[in-house]
Amino acid sequence: MTTSTDTIDLAVIGGTGLYALADLENPEAHQPPTPYGALSGPVRVGTFAGRRVAFLARHGEGHSVPPHKINYRANLAAFKALGATRVLALNTVGGITERFGPRVLACPDQLIDYTWGRISTLCEEPGTEVLHVDFGEPYTRSLRAAVVAAAARGGVPLVDGGCYGATQGPRLETRAEIARMRRDGCDLVGMTGMPEAGLARELGLDYACLAIVANWAAGAGPDPDEVITLQDVLDNVAAASAGLPALLRAL
Ligand code: HPA
Repeated sequence: MTTSTDTIDLAVIGGTGLYALADLENPEAHQPPTPYGALSGPVRVGTFAGRRVAFLARHGEGHSVPPHKINYRANLAAFKALGATRVLALNTVGGITERFGPRVLACPDQLIDYTWGRISTLCEEPGTEVLHVDFGEPYTRSLRAAVVAAAARGGVPLVDGGCYGATQGPRLETRAEIARMRRDGCDLVGMTGMPEAGLARELGLDYACLAIVANWAAGAGPDPDEVITLQDVLDNVAAASAGLPALLRAL
């Protein structure tokens, strides 16, 4: 049985289309109580490539929790309670700029938060200490470097860098919204990158994002009239995820 004194080498959060970690051996399910309430589902802790790895499906294992209803605080606090210090977030995203077409894997180095109305801090409750964490570099440099190096070692193509724009969802964006995000400097758009990254920083967890491009964002691809379907999203995530086991193994 894993307790908070056991070390978890890596905690992985799966996004849309990624509800389990293949090859996680002897997984045990944990759902530790947290000060923030219930998690999206069980944290599965097992052995992957000889290391203790934890996996949690961010939207629940049956994809029943929409982005604005995810209890990001509880999910990350549970990882911490189980002894994790490094979190790799897998995020399904749309691509906005040229290098980020469907089926690309990317490890962004910046983000812009367009979400609203989500609990985005540990200091929400009256009486809690107010934290003003540094967030100039929102992803942990050493973990990003490890992800980029692992991709190279595992022979998995990965774009190093890019700016992730976090939108509210669950609807996809209008073409005007994506045009604005492009002007703002966003390369990728997703619905779950924030407040997760900010909360990880407040909790003192190392955190990096591995973005999986599922589609061109609205109006961003070669066919400006393209309609984005869930099936396209899931097909592209499945195809792009083919390289994930090799990358994770190398990591
Ligand atoms: N926009 C926001 N989130 C997404 C998209 C998108 O186009 N594709 C997958 N997640």
